[in-house]
Amino acid sequence: MSTEGKKLRIGVIGAGSISGLHLEAYKQCSDTVIAAVCDLNEERAKAAAAKYGAEQVYTNYRELLADPSIDAVSICTWNNTHAEISIAALEAGKHVLCEKPMCKTVEEAEKVQEAVRRSGKILQVGFVRRYAGSVDVLKRFIDAGELGEIYYAKASCLRRLGNPGGWFSDSSRSGGGPLIDLGVHIIDLCWYLMGRPKVKSISGNTYRNLGNRANVQNLSFYKAADYDASRNDVEDAANAVIRFENGASLLVDVSFTLHAAKDELYIKLYGDKGGAEVEPALVVMSEKYDTIVNSTPQIDHTSFDASEAFGREIAHFAGSCLGRVETLSPVEDGLEVTRMLSAIYESAAKGTEIHFD
Ligand SMILES: NC(=O)c1ccc[n+]([C@@H]2O[C@H](COP(=O)([O-])OP(=O)(O)OC[C@H]3O[C@@H](n4cnc5c(N)ncnc54)[C@H](O)[C@@H]3O)[C@@H](O)[C@H]2O)c1
Repeated sequence: MSTEGKKLRIGVIGAGSISGLHLEAYKQCSDTVIAAVCDLNEERAKAAAAKYGAEQVYTNYRELLADPSIDAVSICTWNNTHAEISIAALEAGKHVLCEKPMCKTVEEAEKVQEAVRRSGKILQVGFVRRYAGSVDVLKRFIDAGELGEIYYAKASCLRRLGNPGGWFSDSSRSGGGPLIDLGVHIIDLCWYLMGRPKVKSISGNTYRNLGNRANVQNLSFYKAADYDASRNDVEDAANAVIRFENGASLLVDVSFTLHAAKDELYIKLYGDKGGAEVEPALVVMSEKYDTIVNSTPQIDHTSFDASEAFGREIAHFAGSCLGRVETLSPVEDGLEVTRMLSAIYESAAKGTEIHFD
């Protein structure tokens, strides 16, 4: 069947902070039309629907899924609802773009994977950093062998003050703190660029020493749509070493609060032929004619640009739904990243290294 000229009718579930980037990207995408918006908060859903021209507004996602004219959904809700809504959407015959993290636990991730296999529908995990233009460029360099064998990567995403409060700091809805919220991105990106090696063992630490530091004044930070600092039972910071079966290793650290001089984001990869930094800006290191060369690709965005990356992620999702391309972030990768995150929490709780089979 030809999909030429067909526009996918999209439902966006969850109309809080991140949904704006999804809605904007669907609006720009020539393959999609925004048909419906759903949020528990009706005013929020109505405002988004009015802004983006969606005909239907729902407060119950099951009603949105019952609409046979909807082809695909974006899930932009709290983490504890991702698995349930993904499975319901797949069973209703919809393609799914699910925000990161794919879900809270390995058990949930396995159920989502089964639902994808049963339904035959696409589920793209919202690992948006994979879709950034700079990462696309670097992936081509890596695939062409410019870095050789990548044996070490390190990534750091430190906020000195940045616990978003609300559901993010309520572990029953988030599944954890900066590790599951920020660590998921940098662990996934390094693992993807390293060629998705098989995990051998993981050692992690989590810390709850500072709290959310809601007392700090005169310094603004990212907050959930329903900001509330009164509840906080997630870690302030975490670190981990992930060892892979091919001998490579990944070192990460993340924080919502830390006595750091400033916020910091870096993602670095080291191979036996060359190296690369994805953040703070793309640079590729090599050795030529007995000389160390740092090359700077000349591209629109050398560091992460949210509207570019979400635009590319959603265009790719639409292309996958229409059978033109394969998703770059399938459910299998969502499951493997969930395994890594869970093992870091488990290692921290037990104080021992976790071995994978
Ligand atoms: N890719 C990224 O870089 C990125 C950035 C921020 C957030 N996120 C992810 O996006 C998701 C949402 O984060 P946010 O910052 O927009 O949070 P938010 O609190 O601003 O918005 C979440 C919205 O979901 C709604 N909601 C919750 N459960 C619902 C349900 N069952 N049905 C309908 N609506 C429901 C809430 O009412 C709220 O409006 C999270 O999973 C988060 O991890 C991803």
